[in-house]
Amino acid sequence: MQYRTFGALDWKPSALGFGAMRLPLLNDDAGQIDAPLATAMIRYAIDHGVNYVDTAWSYHKGMGEPFLAQALADGYRAKVSLATKLPTWLIQSLDDCDTYLNRQLERLQTDVIDFYLLHSLHQERWHTLRALNVTAWAEKQLAAGKIRHIGFSFHDRYAAFQEIVDDYDGWDFCQIQYNFMDVNEQAGMRGLHYAAEKGLAVIVMEPLRGGKLAKNPPPAPVARLWAQAPIQRTPADWALQWLWNQPEVSLVLSGMSTMQQVIENVASAERSGVGSLTAGELALVEQVRAAYQALIPIPCTACGYCQPCPQGVAIPRIFSIYNEGIMYDDLPGARDAYRHWLDATERADLCVECHQCEEQCPQSIEIPTWLQQVHAQLLAD
Ligand SMILES: NC(=O)c1ccc[n+]([C@@H]2O[C@H](COP(=O)([O-])OP(=O)(O)OC[C@H]3O[C@@H](n4cnc5c(N)ncnc54)[C@H](OP(=O)(O)O)[C@@H]3O)[C@@H](O)[C@H]2O)c1
Repeated sequence: MQYRTFGALDWKPSALGFGAMRLPLLNDDAGQIDAPLATAMIRYAIDHGVNYVDTAWSYHKGMGEPFLAQALADGYRAKVSLATKLPTWLIQSLDDCDTYLNRQLERLQTDVIDFYLLHSLHQERWHTLRALNVTAWAEKQLAAGKIRHIGFSFHDRYAAFQEIVDDYDGWDFCQIQYNFMDVNEQAGMRGLHYAAEKGLAVIVMEPLRGGKLAKNPPPAPVARLWAQAPIQRTPADWALQWLWNQPEVSLVLSGMSTMQQVIENVASAERSGVGSLTAGELALVEQVRAAYQALIPIPCTACGYCQPCPQGVAIPRIFSIYNEGIMYDDLPGARDAYRHWLDATERADLCVECHQCEEQCPQSIEIPTWLQQVHAQLLAD
C-alpha cells in the first residue's frame, strides 16, 4: 500500500480508503447487507494496508454502523481509523447532536470515533448549524475523548465551500466529491487547492462518480480514447490514478460493492503516487473528459437565468439529470433520479409553454420542447 500525507496531521493515510456506502446486499433492500461478503471485503482491504473506513448514520438504512462494528471485530478496529458522520439534516439542537453521537458510539461499539464529519453540508445547512454553535459542541466532544478529529463533507457550490472552510479554524479535514469529470463542479479543483493551502486534509468521495466512470464498456467515443492509450488500464484505474497523481488529495474513498473491485482498487492504490502520470497521460484524461462532455444533448450550463419558473419546474436540475443519463449511458439511473430526487411539483410535465424561460436563456435552448421530450423519456418504464 502507498501512504500519503493528511493535512497538518502527523498521520499517514492509505491512498485508498474503504467507503462503506455501497456494500454488497442480499436483495434489493439497501438495509440487507451481505455481511459475510462485506466483512471479507473490508478485512481484505485492511489486510492489504487500507487504514481508513468511512460510514455514516444513514448508510444502508441505518444498518451500516452496526454492521461495521461486527466487521471490525477480531482486532480489525485497532488497525483502522474509523470515520462517521453527524446526520446534520436531523439536527435541531445541540441535544440532538449529543443523542446521535452517543448512539453512533454504541452502534459502532467503539469508545472513540477517529474522524467525525458534519455530513453533507451545503450553505443553508451550515448556517443553521453555525447558529447552534456546532463547532463549540464538537470541541467539547474532542475534549471528552469521544472524537479525535473534526471535519465535514460537502455538496454545494465553491463559494459555500470557501465560506465553511473560512468560518472555523478547527477543521482538520474535509470530504469533497471530486473526479476527473467534476473539476469545476461543487468544491472542484479550486476547492481542493483552497482547502489544502489552508492545511486541511482533503478526502475524495465519488472518485468514479458513483461507478459511472468505471462503466465497462464506456460510451464509444470514450472507449476509443482509452483503447488508444499507450498504457492499458481499466477506466476505474485511470480515474483513480488521476486523483492520486495530485498532491492535494489526501486519500481516495471508493465505495466498493464486490470483492473483485476491492482487489482491483487495492492493486491500483499500490501502484499509485503523486506525479506518477505523464503529461501525455494527463492530456488523455482531458480528452476523455471532452469526449464525455461532447455527448451532452442539452447545452445547459445551470446558470439559473430561467428560474424561477412560474410553474415551479426545476429546469436546470431536470436538464442535468437527463444530460448525465445520456452522457454516461445510464438512462435507468436518470429515471431513478427523476422519480426520487425531484418532487412532483418540480417536474417537467408542469410546463405550460409560456416560454418565459426561453427568453432568458443565454444558450437559446428550446426549453419547453426539451422539457416535454425529457419527461417522456424519464418517466418511461
Ligand atoms: N459524505 C457524503 O455526502 C458522501 C456522499 C457520497 C459518498 N460518500 C462516501 O464516499 C465513498 C466513496 O464514494 P462512492 O461510493 O460514490 O465511490 P465511487 O468509487 O465513485 O463509486 C463506487 C462504485 O463504483 C463502482 N466501482 C468501484 N470500483 C470499481 C472497479 N474497480 N471497477 C468497476 N467499478 C467499480 C461500483 O459500482 P457498482 O456497484 O455499480 O458496480 C461502486 O459501487 C462512499 O462509499 C461513502 O463512504 C460520502
